[in-house]
Amino acid sequence: MTAFDCIIRNSRVATASDVFESDIGIRDGRVAALAENLSGAAETIDAAGRWVTPGGVDGHCHLDQPTSDGTRMADDFRSGTVSAAHGGTTTVIPFACQFKGQSLNDVVADYHARATDKAVIDYAFHLIISDPSPAVLETELPALIARGYTHFKLYMTYDDMKLNDRQMLDVLELARRNGAMVMIHAENSDCIGWLTDRLEQAGKTAPYYHAVSRPPVVEREATYRAIAFSDLMDTPILIVHVSGRDATEEIRRGQARGLRIYGETCPQYLFLTAADLQKDGFEGAKCICSPPPRTPADQAYMWSALADGVFSIFSSDHAPFRFADPQGKQHGRAQEGFRWVPNGIPGLETRLPLLFTHGVLEGRIDIRDFVALTATNPAQMYGLDAAKGTIAVGADADIVIWDEKPPFPLTNDMLHHNVDYTPYEGIELKAWPGIVMSRGAVIIRDGQLQAEPGRGRFLPSALPAPARPNRPEDPTPYFVEPVSEVLP
Ligand code: URP
Ligand code: ZN
Ligand code: ZN
Repeated sequence: MTAFDCIIRNSRVATASDVFESDIGIRDGRVAALAENLSGAAETIDAAGRWVTPGGVDGHCHLDQPTSDGTRMADDFRSGTVSAAHGGTTTVIPFACQFKGQSLNDVVADYHARATDKAVIDYAFHLIISDPSPAVLETELPALIARGYTHFKLYMTYDDMKLNDRQMLDVLELARRNGAMVMIHAENSDCIGWLTDRLEQAGKTAPYYHAVSRPPVVEREATYRAIAFSDLMDTPILIVHVSGRDATEEIRRGQARGLRIYGETCPQYLFLTAADLQKDGFEGAKCICSPPPRTPADQAYMWSALADGVFSIFSSDHAPFRFADPQGKQHGRAQEGFRWVPNGIPGLETRLPLLFTHGVLEGRIDIRDFVALTATNPAQMYGLDAAKGTIAVGADADIVIWDEKPPFPLTNDMLHHNVDYTPYEGIELKAWPGIVMSRGAVIIRDGQLQAEPGRGRFLPSALPAPARPNRPEDPTPYFVEPVSEVLP
């Protein structure tokens, strides 16, 4: 019997805190040893001269999520996880989305059925709470948290998803009491509705006006409000898909006060601008997502914010709709105006290669920050860090060995999603995952998938460490006791 199932030799390993040269010994799907000159393995992989990073954890993606407008998400758990794996992601956290009136238990059962025979990599679920009814708050959600669904998303916009302020307080209170993490989509719904109506009345309905209908101040106001609720309720929150300077400054201010406000941003805010929505004809619809991409100045600001630590997480927000498809970007009344175009763009497979090339190789971020943002922090934030998000003895052997290459353009025909475009077409890359391992098995080698659908496992989430109750270091001098002390 050999000591290891596999040894990755001569690895230049990056974790969120260190860079070191080592062999990696893998046994029974886990990292069993990190040391020089390991021997005794059935298989050996030589990683000399290549970066070796933890498999990516994509903390925000949408797979096979039913919609209410006649559209259809292009990727199910098979194509979505295959695409993710090719791009170096070994864990995904898509959403199990509650429509108003639905039982959360039914929603969770439905998403398990969608995932179980199809996923090629491991997955957990975030819940989307759109109907915090007494049954949900008093019974279903506490029980689901105890069963491993410890993080959920709230929307401040979209008519079929949004909560009012009072409902948000209800959910934040529940999250504090149960130690769950709340993710918030922060845009002011009434402002967007008002602007959309006015733009339509003025005949301004082309895809570009989607960005005009959701300007930065609309995101900033909602971000400020969400942070105020977090402060009031003493509950940590994560603001998702932050698009630019305005909202980031609100997060920074909350963090500077010592509040546990976390931020996530995504490739679309580093690589796209509102000008991409202005492309010829209807092409701009390919880049419609919410919040929308902003300005080149915002892009530059977001790069520096990624490097200076205001963001904890870099996710794809993969929300895949095909372009030339009556159930995609051009469904139903979409040609009548941006209001009807489904929001969301694909990005599961391109998230890591884009950030690796333009962040790490071009010197904008340190490789340790790359690992933290794309793997370690999302694993910690969502209670998966017992096994995922790092290369350490005892962790799952979820590993990416990077191939650096002469510059080449990213094209959609390289990708494995079920979407007929990538918004990042033509952007130059200099690296791609050569080998991707999931629980010690090579699932991608030189662009070839070596994994069967159904091998991916559901990961129940532990309580996230950051979601413990928080208190400003520099608290407002309350004349009365904080809510969390009066209503523990
Ligand atoms: O436009 C976006 N981001 N679509 C996906 C849904 C969401 O709000 O994350
Ligand atoms: Zn959102
Ligand atoms: Zn999303």
